[in-house]
Amino acid sequence: MDERERFLIRYAGGFAPEPIARAEGAWLETESGKRVLDFTSGQICSTLGHNHPRVNGAIRQTLDRVSHLNSWMLSEPVLALAERLAGLFPAGLDRVLLLSTGSESTEVGLKMAKLYSGRFEVAGLTRSFHGLLAGIASVNYSMAHQGYGPLLPGAFAIPAPYAYRCPVKHCDGACDCTCLEIGFDLVDQASVGSLCAFIAEPILSTGGIIVPPDGYFRRARELCDERGMLLVLDEAQTGFGRVGTMFAFEHDGVVPDVVAVSKTLGGGLPLAATVTSDAIEDDCFAKGFIHVTSHVSDPLPAAAGLAVLEAIEEDGLVEQSARLGEYLLARLRELQTEHEQIGDVRGRGLLVGLELVEDRETRAPANALGAAMTQECYERGLSMNIVRSGGSANCLRLAPPLIVTDEEIDLAVEIMDASLRAVVGAGVRS
Ligand SMILES: Cc1ncc(COP(=O)(O)O)c(C=O)c1O
Repeated sequence: MDERERFLIRYAGGFAPEPIARAEGAWLETESGKRVLDFTSGQICSTLGHNHPRVNGAIRQTLDRVSHLNSWMLSEPVLALAERLAGLFPAGLDRVLLLSTGSESTEVGLKMAKLYSGRFEVAGLTRSFHGLLAGIASVNYSMAHQGYGPLLPGAFAIPAPYAYRCPVKHCDGACDCTCLEIGFDLVDQASVGSLCAFIAEPILSTGGIIVPPDGYFRRARELCDERGMLLVLDEAQTGFGRVGTMFAFEHDGVVPDVVAVSKTLGGGLPLAATVTSDAIEDDCFAKGFIHVTSHVSDPLPAAAGLAVLEAIEEDGLVEQSARLGEYLLARLRELQTEHEQIGDVRGRGLLVGLELVEDRETRAPANALGAAMTQECYERGLSMNIVRSGGSANCLRLAPPLIVTDEEIDLAVEIMDASLRAVVGAGVRS
């Protein structure tokens, strides 16, 4: 441990064993020269890999011109990014607010939904994560509620479509959306008549890579429309190619009322956006909508975001993510045949989860095994992380950069195989 760690507030448990000196593509290098394959893309942000030349070039060029401005001043990178983003989304998602973090983009989504509808009740999915600002954290059901006092009134939970452990004990392996119907029924019964929005991740990542069944969001759209609720989708992790389509919502062919994008937009720089319709923007503007932050519409991160979008398009990274995702899933399913402890493998594109269990019969979550395996993998040169949700910490999340190669995937699977054998051999099973 570096002595200087004692000057830092510990914001999420401990820190990695050694500081990172540099990073490139899918690789990290520690101060002592150890190389680690980065299968979390930093904090799921470095979609293009680390230090992408196009992103670095755009940052350098913008630094020499202007990096930060007063919030009412616009610049070429901001205008160009807004136009490009609006062009990527379907009609009905026409207006863009450029922000810094995922928490902000979801918070703004809900603020606009409230102002537009004049109502305040919001439903979210159990096991969801949308950020840690006080407002949006009220509809986070995966963590961080205990110890911080009251949440916003009017926040409701709908059971997540977690087919491997059906929340209503109804399905097994394939969700039939009963949880969604029951969830809206419960919301109706709890509501004081002020239903405003339903917010969801199209694939729940922090909650354990939970992939809703086909048609789930079409049904959610109907249920929202019946109640006059807005559909707000949080594409922080799934947007811009990560799941093999430009946006995850394309899978069901729905058009949400509001989309929040963040992590995967900035190429590692803090950049996020809330996107909505002309009608919602006009209405909110007329009602005096205000959301001014220090770094709203900053040129520097906007230039990085523009470079990310150009690279994704020109290098065919959406298609690459779909192909490599299939390959990664196939390799992990092979691994599953070798290890009783791998209960489930699931995901879409390059957002993949692997759930560890004591045995496949009881499906008891193997939390200690998950922690030991993550550590063993890191020591052997693979960084990935455990996602913690609903009291368990047994789902390994793999989200490599979209520029990862087949060989790097093979290497990661080899390291996982050897690590799992080693920790199970050492007696860690539960
Ligand atoms: C789906 C989702 N939404 C929002 C956030 C919050 O983003 P940030 O940490 O940039 O505030 C995260 C972060 O993990 C996330 O996964």
